[in-house]
Amino acid sequence: MFGRRRFEVKTTDQLRHMRAAGLVVANALRAAAAATSPGATTADVDRAAARVIADAGAKPSFLGYHGYPAQVCVSVNDEVIHGIPGPRVLAVGDLVSIDCGAIVRGWHGDAAVTVACGGRTDDASARLSEVTKEALWAGIAAARVGATVGDIGHAVASTVAAAGEGYGIVDGFTGHGIGSAMHMDPDVPNVGRPGRGPRLVAGMAIAIEPMITLGGDDTDTLSDGWTVVTSTGARAAHWEHTVAITPAGPWVLTAVDGGGLADGVALASLG
Ligand code: MF3
Ligand code: CO
Repeated sequence: MFGRRRFEVKTTDQLRHMRAAGLVVANALRAAAAATSPGATTADVDRAAARVIADAGAKPSFLGYHGYPAQVCVSVNDEVIHGIPGPRVLAVGDLVSIDCGAIVRGWHGDAAVTVACGGRTDDASARLSEVTKEALWAGIAAARVGATVGDIGHAVASTVAAAGEGYGIVDGFTGHGIGSAMHMDPDVPNVGRPGRGPRLVAGMAIAIEPMITLGGDDTDTLSDGWTVVTSTGARAAHWEHTVAITPAGPWVLTAVDGGGLADGVALASLG
């Protein structure tokens, strides 16, 4: 618009690589979720994802990122994000958020899921995860050419508000642009006003990642320098996808089905 691009706009070839990275992340998260069973450690969850990333010939993006020591983040119960995998033993009903990133030919994918260890948890935790996932998909639906980053935040926050009282939208952490690096401009907050913020153009890619709690929006960082926990001790959920903005609609690079948009249709719409 001003002859100068503020954000990285991808070519179709670059988005093909991001799609490949996104599918590696999707498969790694599926394996990690399957490894989230009673008696397993959070290190076991990390190993399950690491195996998929290695088998795909991809590179883990978290390992070594600002010194981060693992390939996924495993955040349990009151841990919101950036939990470091280790000897912690998981129990039935634990609410476990798993965040994973991978690189293919220099292009990044980043996604997170929340799962109940053993496939069941208390009703409030189960609902929290559902609401967070719903908020993610509302944000994704708003990620259209010509819309703004504020539209996405508004969609996320209003979905959480509509779910009822008592949910907190974590303060101080946001989604982000993604492409040749994991974290790029623009920030993609989980709150926003319609029509405000940077405008989305075809070929941009962003990671949308609501982090929602069962009480409060304040967090603390543990002495390990990484693990972010809710200040109230309430449980939290985290869902994330990497999304490409295309004229045919949001292309969810880290969802196996592309978020309902076929790869060929998405790529063709980009020219
Ligand atoms: N993937 C996280 C995010 O969603 C960041 C992970 S930080 C790391 O933005 F250090 F663990 F890599
Ligand atoms: Co992210």
